[in-house]
Amino acid sequence: MIWDLIVIGGGPAGYSAAQRAAQAGLQTLLIEKYKIGGVCLNEGCIPSKTLLYSAKLLDSAKHSEKYGVTIEKASLNHAVVIQRKNKVVKTLVMGIQSKLRASGVSVIEGLAEILGKDPQGFGVRVQNDTYIGKQLLIATGSSPVLPPIPGLPEGIEKGLVVTNREILNLTTIPDSLVIIGGGVIGLEMASYFNSAGSRVTILEMLDHIAGETDPEIAGFLMKRYQKKGVDFKLGAQVIGIQDQQVIYKQNGETPSLTAEKVLISVGRRPVTEGFGLNNLGVAMEKGRILTDEKCRTNIPGVFAAGDVDGLSMLAHTAYREAEVVVGNILGKSDIMKYTVIPTVIYTNPEVASVGATEAMAGQKGIDYEVAKISMRYSGRFLAENEGEDGICKILINKKNQQLIGVHLLGNYASEIIYGAGLMLETEIKLADLKKIIFPHPTVSEIIREALFEF
Ligand code: FAD
Ligand code: NAI
Repeated sequence: MIWDLIVIGGGPAGYSAAQRAAQAGLQTLLIEKYKIGGVCLNEGCIPSKTLLYSAKLLDSAKHSEKYGVTIEKASLNHAVVIQRKNKVVKTLVMGIQSKLRASGVSVIEGLAEILGKDPQGFGVRVQNDTYIGKQLLIATGSSPVLPPIPGLPEGIEKGLVVTNREILNLTTIPDSLVIIGGGVIGLEMASYFNSAGSRVTILEMLDHIAGETDPEIAGFLMKRYQKKGVDFKLGAQVIGIQDQQVIYKQNGETPSLTAEKVLISVGRRPVTEGFGLNNLGVAMEKGRILTDEKCRTNIPGVFAAGDVDGLSMLAHTAYREAEVVVGNILGKSDIMKYTVIPTVIYTNPEVASVGATEAMAGQKGIDYEVAKISMRYSGRFLAENEGEDGICKILINKKNQQLIGVHLLGNYASEIIYGAGLMLETEIKLADLKKIIFPHPTVSEIIREALFEF
């Protein structure tokens, strides 16, 4: 049999593309070497958010007194948290498996190896069987970057150093946790383990945390976590791991930290090796598969979607790219836009952004104006966040009066940001944005409030 589409990788990009393709009537084969659901469901988005919700509940319980609620003793049972996380993951994975079955996708477990192209199509081997597809989607995702730090491989072998995979399955809370990398994973894991009782230190190479996040919001977030007891070492370069010691260079000195566990979270790289990509001659750039706006590679009939194209390593980007791939296979003209992709850091408080920061707008030479207000302008925020503050910052393009960026710090930000994305996507002008009616009282009203600052 010749398949219409062979999908390699069963993460968000692969399973959603396979499902959409089969629903549209394409004979679709999905090959997954490890776990259906990929990183997102098994060792990324979902498990981390499940843990973080328990931490949030604990934090609320610990501070319930200021809301007039007395809780004698709040504590966290990590074993139960992990059990519940496993249950959530299992439920979602089973849901995806049944959707794939219902859509008519054939799923094979095993490592896919691309053999090349012949007149019939693309040959893909799994163990001893070869499958032929008219079209091929590469959705092999990403894996953690492991920099060449002396002692790191030995640390991993001994179980001292962990990645996102192992940290989400720790059976006990370490007394001390050193996190290398103050990006999204580092901050989210710092949030959980700080609430759970670990002494957490973040070693970040740059002079700020949270990557490209608005610097004021990143600074505010750092201060909040310092207050909670997280120690941040900025401009810190790890130069070695020995026994339980993490040695780093900072301001010309080489101090060290003792750690029961070390999390390495310094970024992720696309998975492009070990499965025969070179047999097709797929064009690459800096370790990622090069794609165009239709998610096509340089080889006709070969597409790539999700983390493997390295453009935006987020599950929601992967879902959209998968739709673009299937749309184009079906002959529809659908293109990927990367300018309006929301990002969220699920700390407590949450950070959410969409569109340009001031730095990005400046780099693009956009003449912009900023409105910045405190979250305390929102009645709902005030009612639910005793003694807390947050930020809402919005940017408009002065020339065309369109919104170009929204940056939020404060809880519910993750649930609000898609609305801001819609405002950017639809290019509505400021005067019309002001006419949108928001439900009251909600934290989302903060955006309306900020719009009226212009
Ligand atoms: P993956 O999910 O990596 O799936 C790729 C799949 O391909 C894997 O299952 C792999 O086993 C399989 N595979 C690879 N090679 C082969 C082969 N040769 N043969 C067969 N199978 C193969 N994103 C968000 O949007 N929100 C979040 O809150 C969020 N939280 C995260 C938290 C953590 C700790 C991490 C690590 C990531 C998080 N992400 C989050 C990112 C998100 O997980 C990824 O963007 C998403 O999983 C990418 O989907 P994908 O399908 O491209 O790849
Ligand atoms: P990241 O790119 O977010 O952060 C890595 C951090 O490590 C950066 O601040 C970088 O400066 C720092 N760094 C790099 N090398 C270093 C070194 N040698 N020593 C010290 N610091 C160093 O990467 P992270 O946190 O690993 O996450 C990977 C990706 O996973 C994210 O970029 C994101 O795409 C995805 N993700 C998304 C989440 C979400 O949407 N909420 C949650 C977690 C992950």
